[in-house]
Amino acid sequence: MFHTMAYMKNFIKDKDVASITPTSPFGVRKVCGHIDFARNNVIIEYGPGTGVFTDYLLKHMKNGSHLIAIERNKNFKSILQNRIRDPRATIINDSAENVLEALKACKRCEADYVISGIPFFWLPRDLKDKILHNTLMALKPGGSFLVYQTCFQTDQHLKVHLERFFPIVHTRFELRNIPPLRLFEAVKGNDCGSRRTGLRPDSLSGSAPAGSTLAQSGRGMGLGHDLFDRTNSDL
Ligand SMILES: C[S@@+](CC[C@H](N)C(=O)[O-])C[C@H]1O[C@@H](n2cnc3c(N)ncnc32)[C@H](O)[C@@H]1O
Repeated sequence: MFHTMAYMKNFIKDKDVASITPTSPFGVRKVCGHIDFARNNVIIEYGPGTGVFTDYLLKHMKNGSHLIAIERNKNFKSILQNRIRDPRATIINDSAENVLEALKACKRCEADYVISGIPFFWLPRDLKDKILHNTLMALKPGGSFLVYQTCFQTDQHLKVHLERFFPIVHTRFELRNIPPLRLFEAVKGNDCGSRRTGLRPDSLSGSAPAGSTLAQSGRGMGLGHDLFDRTNSDL
């Protein structure tokens, strides 16, 4: 109830909050089901809101893990900072495209997972590209970008953009949420850096790498996936 009240107040004032209620426990569990909690991880969370994912992650993470939560909304950041007193968590008031600065501030080089609920469907193309590029750079080889969005999105809103940056993209749905969710798992290849994608951070706008470049970089990475199935793998 606390989560829902605080959430709705901010939803009314800030369009970037984007969803009227926090993610359901079903949605949280399904997204986090991709995480290997048996090992120490660096996990980055974009848009923690009132912290439904943050709480779940901290409950399941090992002691040697680190969670970096990046929240643009100042009220949510204060709510989280007052509520969460866990030395494994760092809460930062910033926007997701600045993820590399956040990692640096936390003295970390790369992350195992990035989780995101930010509303990609109304981000301008250049900002979307910047966030995807910097997320790719923030992840370890083999690391995963786990995204949850409302199910009303078409492939044009996010999936086709993820496929320009990540060699493996899976999508699925979680109906037990209001509204139902579309979930994405985008995996960074073992040899998939900015040079490989042909992108530089300062040349993102309108200069997407050809999908085939990424598909090539995905081949032979030893990830055990059939890359020819990946682009339309709605599970
Ligand atoms: C759909 S809500 C998800 C909130 C929460 N994680 C949940 O699952 O209930 C989106 C969240 O992303 C935050 N947000 C939107 N744009 C952002 C950005 N560019 N960088 C960081 N956070 C952002 C919003 O303030 C909001 O907290």
